[in-house]
Amino acid sequence: MSLDVVILAAGQGTRMRSKTPKVLHPLAGRPLVRHVVDTALSLDDAHVHVVIGHGGDSVRDALAMADGGSALSFCEQREQKGTGHAVAQTLGGLGDDKVLVLYGDVPLIQTRTLQTLLDQVDEQHMALLTVTLEDPTGYGRIVRDDRQAVTAIVEHKDADAAQRDIRECNTGIMAMTSAQLTRWLPALSSDNAQAEYYLTDVIAMAAADGVEVRASQPSSPVEVEGVNDRRQLAALERAYQRRQAEHLMSAGVGLADPARFDLRGDVTVGRDIHIDINVILEGQVTLEDDVVIGPNCVIKDSVIRRGAVIKANSHLEGVEMGEESDCGPFARLRPGTRLGARAHVGNFVETKNARLADGVKAGHLTYLGDAEIGAGTNVGAGTITCNYDGANKHRTQIGENVFVGSNSSLVAPVTIGNGATIAAGSTITREVEEDELAIGRSRQVVKQGWQRPVKNPDS
Ligand code: UD1
Ligand code: CA
Repeated sequence: MSLDVVILAAGQGTRMRSKTPKVLHPLAGRPLVRHVVDTALSLDDAHVHVVIGHGGDSVRDALAMADGGSALSFCEQREQKGTGHAVAQTLGGLGDDKVLVLYGDVPLIQTRTLQTLLDQVDEQHMALLTVTLEDPTGYGRIVRDDRQAVTAIVEHKDADAAQRDIRECNTGIMAMTSAQLTRWLPALSSDNAQAEYYLTDVIAMAAADGVEVRASQPSSPVEVEGVNDRRQLAALERAYQRRQAEHLMSAGVGLADPARFDLRGDVTVGRDIHIDINVILEGQVTLEDDVVIGPNCVIKDSVIRRGAVIKANSHLEGVEMGEESDCGPFARLRPGTRLGARAHVGNFVETKNARLADGVKAGHLTYLGDAEIGAGTNVGAGTITCNYDGANKHRTQIGENVFVGSNSSLVAPVTIGNGATIAAGSTITREVEEDELAIGRSRQVVKQGWQRPVKNPDS
């Protein structure tokens, strides 16, 4: 048993008005065509053939990066002579079982719908996905005989007035045996209103061959909606996000407003999580039980442990936040940041490649880069690790229970021992040993009887 899935992705997508090929425009952070490829690969034993044309190299690159390439091959359609001509490009590479045709710009099709189609295919039957639309303008119409058997698809441009009244439309998605397809495709002609080889003409050939066309419908019309312009892309994005928000709420996540939540990737969730409005999750995110996320936060590729709190307007990427730690409002935690349990990072703090052990506090206006900070240490407001000398990055090592006074500069590489105290306003350039007090600033000078200058009345 094997399955060949053909994904048509050669068209230009003129109505997007973009230099990017249409199928590479992102939906929930992933190119349209990758949604389709991922769904295709979720079918058992699927080999996926992507028909590329306009922007073919970039489509190939975008998909090759995503896959590892094993179950994916590409066929180039040099000239776009129609959907039938596009599928014909894959004929040499098909196996001898079933073939499913999908579209690179119809991203929300579901595995279950496709499985239903495939289950209907055998030597005597092919399967077609149809949808009934209020306004069928532009779509191929499903023609049935008086016994309701499907006998043909007529494209809008080729349809007569009576056919144009039909509201059951072709979604373009169909499945048949490889033997049937191999028999029918070479017989297509381009004698029609658009002078194209229509894939849809195989339906009449099936009927003529005594192969019954079994039509079924998707569980929701949004599954078969295509993207032709940016308005449709935005509408599908909202539909997709709505679906994801509903899944999360069913799993026990509280969303302040499901219409103001975006997931661009995958999230693993525990229970009793609360997410305020305008939160964006990207890449691979894990949220354990009782995590609270305030409004306007962006969280990418991060693990947030049980009970951690991310306050409003924080931006996290490549972060691990320990249990019951908290950050923000307005925290910027960059890749390689690890906060221990109950660590606290307050407003306008930036961290990068920094490990803050359990209970470390960095409450305000600080940059901690390439740093290791031991448990219980307090980092005062305005502390900066000077980690870059203009050429290389250096590490700052701070022990446990250190007190770093406000507005200190720690010039790396530098080490501060356990229990040490750094006086406020210090510039630390040399090692400070355990329990020492380091003061790295000029002494205060006081001038008595000092007269402030006064304004010259003539100027
Ligand atoms: C097609 C169907 C129509 C159906 C509609 C659903 C045909 C002849 N018509 O019409 O019955 O109702 O889809 O949206 O199949 N493509 C290629 N190479 C080509 C031509 C097209 O790769 O030579 C790709 C396009 O990039 C696109 C898809 O095939 O992703 C559909 O092509 P399009 O021209 O949009 O077909 P429609 O006219 O919409
Ligand atoms: Ca179309």
